[in-house]
Amino acid sequence: MCGICACTGNLNAVKLVTEGLKILEYRGYDSAGVAYIENENLKVEKAVGEICNLEKKVENLVSFTAIGHTRWATHGGVTENNAHPHFSFSKNIAMVHNGIVENYKELKEKLEIDTWRSQTDTEVFVNLVEKENGTLLEKIISASRKVIGSFAVAILDEKGNLVLGKRESPLYVAKIKNGIMAVSDTYVLSGLTENFYTLGDNEFAEIKNDEIYFYDKNGKKIIKNSEKMQKFDKKSTIFEKTHMKSEILETKNILKTTYKNYQDGNLFSQIIFPNRPKEINLIACGTAYHSALQGAEYFKKIGIPSHAYIASEFRYGNEILNKNALYIFVSQSGETADTIACAKMLKEKKMCCLALTNTPNSYLNQICGNVLPTFAGKEIAVASTKAYSCQVFVLYLFSLYISGKFQEKEKEIENFLVKFPLVDIDKNVVDKISKFEKIFFIGRRQDYITALESSLKLKEITYINSFAIASGELKHGTLALIDEKSIVIAICTEEKTKEKLFSNLEEVKARNGSVLLVTNFETNFDNLKIPTFPPSLMPLVSIIPMQFLALHICEKLGYNPDKPKNLAKSVTVE
Ligand code: M6R
Repeated sequence: MCGICACTGNLNAVKLVTEGLKILEYRGYDSAGVAYIENENLKVEKAVGEICNLEKKVENLVSFTAIGHTRWATHGGVTENNAHPHFSFSKNIAMVHNGIVENYKELKEKLEIDTWRSQTDTEVFVNLVEKENGTLLEKIISASRKVIGSFAVAILDEKGNLVLGKRESPLYVAKIKNGIMAVSDTYVLSGLTENFYTLGDNEFAEIKNDEIYFYDKNGKKIIKNSEKMQKFDKKSTIFEKTHMKSEILETKNILKTTYKNYQDGNLFSQIIFPNRPKEINLIACGTAYHSALQGAEYFKKIGIPSHAYIASEFRYGNEILNKNALYIFVSQSGETADTIACAKMLKEKKMCCLALTNTPNSYLNQICGNVLPTFAGKEIAVASTKAYSCQVFVLYLFSLYISGKFQEKEKEIENFLVKFPLVDIDKNVVDKISKFEKIFFIGRRQDYITALESSLKLKEITYINSFAIASGELKHGTLALIDEKSIVIAICTEEKTKEKLFSNLEEVKARNGSVLLVTNFETNFDNLKIPTFPPSLMPLVSIIPMQFLALHICEKLGYNPDKPKNLAKSVTVE
């Protein structure tokens, strides 16, 4: 959700910042902008739409200091005025901001400014900064005390002072060749530096004379240790026209890498969790919630009571906490606000928390302190594919580790990884399915979870109204919607639920609905055949054609699968 890139030094800052924003574009792609110093004046350029629109406007600019932003709209529509950076009233200060100022209305009233240039909370924040006394650093520190909410900010004034501040939203800073760069995601820094610093909550930084000085919320200087940059393995990346396609195709390799990293058991033995936990609860959002559901199935299979919760529901629920339970927070980004809020809440209550993330230095990792990494590599497409598969796989391996069956299953897993099939879906089938007005996904147990994920993928990038339902529930209401305009895509990978699911499909056909069965079993229904592996591994196999289905329909309709409308990769607001 919104990306920040700021840069200063003996370098072409505007160029570096726009290049950084292009890498951060997955975080929001409504509009973008930069603020920079030119002839001792603070200037701003903005453009609605993709970063390339901004790039055209700034390609000839040269400045030694710049701050930039790529936006996912929260407050105020997608307009140039609402795009960041935002000037203060006097235009002496410019700010880029990721996060939400929850009390912006109240602060706005107190500021008594007659004309506002935008509808954003950020413009309120930058004016609050301007009204404070002292240096730019002192101003942001005192303004932030009045702010309720989250922020990662980079602020530049007309004298070229550059300061940073952080609460909840991510912000990293590093020395690069000939200068200093601050970013929302360390991926931008890859290849530019070996070390970086993570700003903690309510920490600030001042960039002065080629040095970075860190401060706490009271303005007291603090010493921070740098962290080693993770090596992003770009070699394994498959370059297709879209990130989503490359990422689906990478699944086989990243499952192998993940297995290699977990095979010796060290990563599991490093985490702290109750010996044979009495319960394992998983908390997540969106696609990560679906992998949490699969995880809960795995833990129940080894005899541990387990439940998956939607983070935004869990937070305000009355769940009974258990000191002997393990709470796993599943998140690709490790930045999702709802998941983070739950992790903070449970950490405060001294529960045993574990982060399962794909982002090594994420905020969620910092909160939990206890981490199981997925090794999916950077996932750029908003629609999560390879990261989902990796999460499911790690949860499966973890269940084997807890039950002491890891070694026993080694051969089976190795065979699975060698043969792992990336089953694509035929063009004729895609053409046929895309003609239906209503697309339902059904399944039972683990296949129902795959149905949920398949439906989410489809609606997310094709904008087709679709939903998933446990197949036994069809006749309890949804069957009323079935007619010749409907297709029901059923997933069936388990012997024990097969016959019942087949009967459900007959019920659909009897109402003139069409059917496509994705299965490893023999059947007379129109079907897409997938190979057979041990049942617990089948969710990894059956999701692939469903991801391809969403992708192909999206392409057929002429949409960009990497940048679905209204969405962003990291959802850092609740
Ligand atoms: O980064 P996270 O895994 O915490 O993100 C959670 C969801 O926002 C995410 O999975 C979302 O549902 C995906 N865009 C779906 O493809």
